[in-house]
Amino acid sequence: MNTLFIGQSSVYLESVESTNSYAIELLRQNTPIEGTLIYSFEQLKGRGQRGNEWESEANKNIALSLILYPNFLTTETQFLLSKIVSLALSDVMAELLQKPQEIRIKWPNDIYVGDKKIAGILIENFLRENSIQSTVIGIGMNVNQMEFITTNKAVSFAVLEGQEFDLMKIIERVCEHIEARYLQLKANKLESISSYYLLKLYRFNKWSNFSEKGKNFEGKIVGVSENGKLKLELRSNEIKEYGLKEIEFI
Ligand code: BTN
Repeated sequence: MNTLFIGQSSVYLESVESTNSYAIELLRQNTPIEGTLIYSFEQLKGRGQRGNEWESEANKNIALSLILYPNFLTTETQFLLSKIVSLALSDVMAELLQKPQEIRIKWPNDIYVGDKKIAGILIENFLRENSIQSTVIGIGMNVNQMEFITTNKAVSFAVLEGQEFDLMKIIERVCEHIEARYLQLKANKLESISSYYLLKLYRFNKWSNFSEKGKNFEGKIVGVSENGKLKLELRSNEIKEYGLKEIEFI
């Protein structure tokens, strides 16, 4: 693959409980080289956000984790990692899908095509004092799976395009785009990262329905704060910020 460090060292696992858990175990044992890629096409106990499971049919989809050491980020700026990884995935999709204009980032970092999810991201940061000592970036992508039994809100590359994709080639693209975005972040190009993230944000600047503690309300996404909270304008004109567990899209 055409990268300087991301994916240059890699571990392929025929079957694994969770590539993220495997990467965390590697980090516990020693210091893997930055950019180490762990990947599998059969993940048995994939973990998702908010403690959810991430299900994936064997040999159809991608489960991968990357180990990075972004010590230039602090606890306050760690959401930038979510931004660059979701942007990188939307870059990959824009290259491979026929309708790139339909690709959206659903806050904080799900990748959607239309109203359906095509990829999920689970970033697990390890802090030392106030900075990020290491991070495991976990990515699950629906590629060649044709049916989703437990949800009607998922979609895959193959469903959208009517053809199968080479999983290894997509992994290479993912590594290349994450490296490009990561280097952009390291070079402190924050304006461009944040404005592009908003440009791609699902339901940005549109009145739509949300729910907070079981209560539905209308809101308009007007931005994302530096620490990653979703900023909504309410019908009362008030601007309110929500954390990941405080709000649902309906
Ligand atoms: C989500 O949408 O809730 C996040 C899903 C993240 C799934 C990926 S698959 C590879 C990596 N290993 C895991 O156990 N989870 C992530």
